[in-house]
Amino acid sequence: MLDGLQYSILKRLAPVNPTAAGADPYQGRNKTKVLLGEKVLEQLRGKTVLDFGCGDGHESIELAQMGAARVIGLDNRQSVLEKARKNAAASGVLDRCEFVTDTSEKIDAIVSLDAFEHFSDPAGVLKKMHQLLPAGGRVYISFGPTWYHPRGGHLFSVIPWAHVIFSESALIRWRNDVRKDGAKRFSEVDGGLNQMTIRRFEKLVAESDFSVESIEAAPIRKLRFFHNRLTREFFTAVVRCRLVKKG
Ligand SMILES: C[S@@+](CC[C@H](N)C(=O)[O-])C[C@H]1O[C@@H](n2cnc3c(N)ncnc32)[C@H](O)[C@@H]1O
Repeated sequence: MLDGLQYSILKRLAPVNPTAAGADPYQGRNKTKVLLGEKVLEQLRGKTVLDFGCGDGHESIELAQMGAARVIGLDNRQSVLEKARKNAAASGVLDRCEFVTDTSEKIDAIVSLDAFEHFSDPAGVLKKMHQLLPAGGRVYISFGPTWYHPRGGHLFSVIPWAHVIFSESALIRWRNDVRKDGAKRFSEVDGGLNQMTIRRFEKLVAESDFSVESIEAAPIRKLRFFHNRLTREFFTAVVRCRLVKKG
């Protein structure tokens, strides 16, 4: 019954197809440059780079355009890989980009952008990354929003924190009115949502076979004065992390 009431409230709050959660956080700036930074992009020049959770390939394409010798975009959804191939062809970099659901190819470095909050088995993804890299190889991860961010529920965050205020079943029922893919859980929506928190991510990387070179919870700019160790789960825009394969 409570679910029914919550569903009615959600219908009032957001009666139409949810297409985007909030404003563009990059505001015209280049996402790949903002998330990775010039120094990392410099290090990736001439390298074979794996883009883990590449989606429709925009960042893989940019990595190739910015000097990577070869980019392997990996995603578990064929539908987005198809788009990625078309995008790479249209951008003239298909000769340097490949889009796959799995690989065993040796690579120099791994990039993963806005994907760690989507992996259903993030520890398994870290293991796979570890297998693919040579000793000393690096993983550059940047992702967000994390689960307790005001928009951490992605499309479910019809108002800030709606994804934690409303029940999963009410939110899924509301979504199923506009998305007909039969998802029954947050984990089953397009791309999946694993409810990743900063704390859980820190634990995952600490328990992995990687050395953590750096890890940073970058605050939401407007709320940076409120951002501290206690509030970071609520006011962090992105988590950035650099891992190194030991040995
Ligand atoms: C929000 S998109 C990010 C795409 C792109 N990296 C970007 O920054 O726009 C997250 C992607 O991760 C992919 N994904 C989820 N689980 C995955 C898995 N286990 N292996 C590979 N890709 C996965 C989803 O299909 C989705 O395309």
